[in-house]
Amino acid sequence: MTIPKSIKYILLVIAVIASAIIIILFYNLNYKMYPLKADQSLYSQNIWEINIDSLSKKLLSQMSLEEKIDQMYGEKMYKSIPKFFGNFLLKQRFAHIYVGRNERLNIPPWVLSDGPRGARVLDKNISSVTTFPVAMARAASWNTELEYNVHDVISKEMRANKTNYAATPCINLLRHPGWGRAQETYGEDQWLLGKFGVAAVKGIEKNNVMACPKHFALNSIENSRWVLNVSLDERTLHEVYLPHFKKVIQDGKPASIMSAYNKIRGEYSGSNKELLTDILREDWGFKGFVSTDWMYGVYDGIKAIKAGLNVEMPWQDEYSYNIIREAISTNIIEEKEIDSLVITSLRTRLKYAFAYDSIDYNHKLILDKSHIDLARAVAEESMVLIKNKNILPFSKDKNLKIGVIGKLANTENTGDLGSSNSTPPYVITPYQGIKNYHKNKNNEVILDDGDNINSSIELAKKLDQVILVVGYTFEDEGEYVMSRGQMLKSAEANELVGIKGIGGDRIRLNLSDYDEKLINEISKVNKNLVVVYVGGSAIDMSKWEKNVPSILFSWYSGMEGGNALAKILYGDVNPSGKLPFTIAANPNDYPYFNPYTDSIYYGYYHGYSLFEKYNKEIAYPFGHGLSYSDFKYKNLEIKDISPEKKYIELSLDIKNNSQIEGKEIIQLYVGFENSNIDRPKKLLKGFKKVLLKPNEIKKINFEIEIDDLKYYDSSSKEWILEDITYKVLLGESSDNSKLLTSDFKIQF
Ligand code: BGC
Repeated sequence: MTIPKSIKYILLVIAVIASAIIIILFYNLNYKMYPLKADQSLYSQNIWEINIDSLSKKLLSQMSLEEKIDQMYGEKMYKSIPKFFGNFLLKQRFAHIYVGRNERLNIPPWVLSDGPRGARVLDKNISSVTTFPVAMARAASWNTELEYNVHDVISKEMRANKTNYAATPCINLLRHPGWGRAQETYGEDQWLLGKFGVAAVKGIEKNNVMACPKHFALNSIENSRWVLNVSLDERTLHEVYLPHFKKVIQDGKPASIMSAYNKIRGEYSGSNKELLTDILREDWGFKGFVSTDWMYGVYDGIKAIKAGLNVEMPWQDEYSYNIIREAISTNIIEEKEIDSLVITSLRTRLKYAFAYDSIDYNHKLILDKSHIDLARAVAEESMVLIKNKNILPFSKDKNLKIGVIGKLANTENTGDLGSSNSTPPYVITPYQGIKNYHKNKNNEVILDDGDNINSSIELAKKLDQVILVVGYTFEDEGEYVMSRGQMLKSAEANELVGIKGIGGDRIRLNLSDYDEKLINEISKVNKNLVVVYVGGSAIDMSKWEKNVPSILFSWYSGMEGGNALAKILYGDVNPSGKLPFTIAANPNDYPYFNPYTDSIYYGYYHGYSLFEKYNKEIAYPFGHGLSYSDFKYKNLEIKDISPEKKYIELSLDIKNNSQIEGKEIIQLYVGFENSNIDRPKKLLKGFKKVLLKPNEIKKINFEIEIDDLKYYDSSSKEWILEDITYKVLLGESSDNSKLLTSDFKIQF
């Protein structure tokens, strides 16, 4: 049989295309890697002794316009698209995207890795890294020292995986608990966000990795992130949504910052001059470089250049040769504007490429035992005991029948699978952790994955202890990746148009109907019960909370979470986490939230300041968390108010009134109730986590900086210190009935 010519032709075309795809894929799955450090053999002195400012100037002067533009984007599209998507789809890994490499001038590139809970971009032959509890969990530890150590480990493992630019920490404020990426941030409070952000940045930069806090700014809704315009007034911007960014920039001094996707008052963040130049550089003194969020980060290259955006990621699109050349030739921009953007990023990043490394960042560092121990320690410190009516710690007697019940009881569940994903070598599930704990203890640990509610109820009747594991997975909340077109259509329709996809914002704040039913039915037949919630933010517990004697928030607790959980449930570890957000009694009391819109107004109040302002009922306050110890606070004393020293000194005594060693998080709030303008009743202005032995008393000192009492005056654009009576409130949570108080005035 002879094959017709036309068919032969089609087959030939198919064969050519298929071969081309195979070659492209082969090349991109085995892409070439480049060193990120400067090549010492090219210099006659130690590279870390080279003056980077002069070197950067010299290099810039040797660059053609095209070479300068090459410093302003990730990789070229034809390279990065097949590499990025090929690796993501076929190997489930993020590829190394080399930014700013110039072979002619010997300029090494930089490579971004996400990593809010572990390094995201992996070297060839590396398939797993240390995976920590999510950022929200870590915020619940209120332990910034741990956060620093976590980022020391993450950045070490980033370097071992041949990356040197960390797209973390995420410090967007949790305005509403439904935000899909809540798990990636540190909660609702600006102060807590700022302190955690600084600790993270310092931990990252310790290993000569450039930190890139994100997403600047106002990125607190996921499903419309590419199309959303956020409006707000000047005071809300400066007092609520920016203070933590300012603190992280000024105290953490990160090399970089990532612009957000959303618009702010009508202008995209990536080309928002007010944000990127007036506030960031001129007011706050930021010296590093700004890069965009990925893919939809910038729409108008020239506007972005004028706004002060240094780098477009991950590939060249708006920062194209043609657009920029044309704008220069028509005098819309001058080449010196390009020079200024390039010298800023060059000067910053070369400091890292030429820095002295005190460690050899090799593969042996990855998953070191100390890293895994830290992952467990963080999980232990972050779990929050919400309620406990004499149930926990469970007894460790022999011959116990223990049931671990629920769809998540034996699920490997470390959180979102988007950019914040991390790949651990194993995950200890709740069931495995409890089973490990009872090994050699002569107790029976039974797993029931909750498939059949009737058999779970029958089982629960026979158990001595019931551990119900409920909550979410990456399918319910997380990063949302859909087309921008779909986001636009959904915003227009004010509801989801098209397929829902995985992750994204949570519109319902309660658990699944199944989980709620499971909790309610089981609580009827067995009262020796703890509900363990896995998730990244607040939930509505109103349908079952009163029926259960104890609740523990375990979060997405990382690779060692199950072991940490068991230690807490059985009292080997005393719980010491506290909520980084408020849990409303009625979910409608949170600020207005709509994932399917292209415009939203952010008011001044959110979180505890909102609930206090309007006297709204709450289920559990911000800062709440129980311990097996009992702490007593007394002797609050204002020791000194020294305007010339710029701070107020306070102290109080805390006693561990129990026989159990424990850690307590002491929270310091300042009250502004006497203000002449509309201000929150109180705001967090300090916290300390302290360890107390049984019956131990400690005197704890605090300082309040006078500058932190100021409010932002929109008309003068100044921070103003009011001459009023301030209140200081110190204690175990934001619940006013549990706080010691005192008043103070500042002598002007
Ligand atoms: C996310 C960023 C992330 C980037 C690179 C974006 O979709 O919003 O947080 O750093 O992707 O993975």
